[in-house]
Amino acid sequence: MTPSLYEEAAFRAAAGNEFRPGGLRLTEELARRCRLEPGLRVLDLACGVGSTARFLARRWGVHVVGLDASASFIDEAAAYQDGDTDPGRGRIDWVVGRADDIPHPDGYFDAVFSECFLSTLEDPVRVLREVRRVLRPSGLLAVTDVYLREAIAVPLPGARPAAACLRNATDRRTMERRLDEAGFEVTTWEDHSRALGGLVASLIFEYGSADAFWQAAVGDEPAVRESVAASRPGYCLLIAQ
Ligand SMILES: C[S@@+](CC[C@H](N)C(=O)[O-])C[C@H]1O[C@@H](n2cnc3c(N)ncnc32)[C@H](O)[C@@H]1O
Repeated sequence: MTPSLYEEAAFRAAAGNEFRPGGLRLTEELARRCRLEPGLRVLDLACGVGSTARFLARRWGVHVVGLDASASFIDEAAAYQDGDTDPGRGRIDWVVGRADDIPHPDGYFDAVFSECFLSTLEDPVRVLREVRRVLRPSGLLAVTDVYLREAIAVPLPGARPAAACLRNATDRRTMERRLDEAGFEVTTWEDHSRALGGLVASLIFEYGSADAFWQAAVGDEPAVRESVAASRPGYCLLIAQ
């Protein structure tokens, strides 16, 4: 896999083990709204180094599958877990795999968590259909993600891994339409853009200046920077059924 923004030292220093705005505070919100309880089966889709999977297993006693396309992230996730001896925690299985080809049977999961992931995808509807396949009927999809508060197209030419979370971010209406296309109904939508501001401030600090951060995130093309700013990137929490 191409090295991503999340593997850069400055990003890891700013974000820690949660490669997203809002950290475990927003994960806790999602868990509460999904009414998780011990024994339920939860998929942490694109789990990164697994902080959400470990949190859900320890705090909510659920059986978690943490799936990510990066073998090195999954290795790191499994190594952290070895230190967790809490007898009350639920089981965790780590899987190296692709979100559009989940190796579980139809209807296997009670809930799927997707944090800061759908906005990175070229074809999110394909992944959402696969998520729907592995969710039991009336199971819940719990999402936090980057979105555009102004519905304008952001041109991000070329494969710029650092721009991952922005490259395919879109506005609320388009996100809801894509979910609808994949058979989901959005039951909760909330704006949490303050959480994005917090992460960006830490990133600017770690990259050394606002300019160095913007260079890493979107490059130095003035038109691209302007359209990114005009689209007002934000962060949302949603639950879909
Ligand atoms: C922004 S990070 C979010 C990670 C994690 N959810 C978190 O919040 O810390 C996006 C993750 O998606 C993973 N990823 C990218 N494409 C993927 C795919 N097609 N299937 C599964 N994981 C993928 C990356 O390896 C990375 O860990």
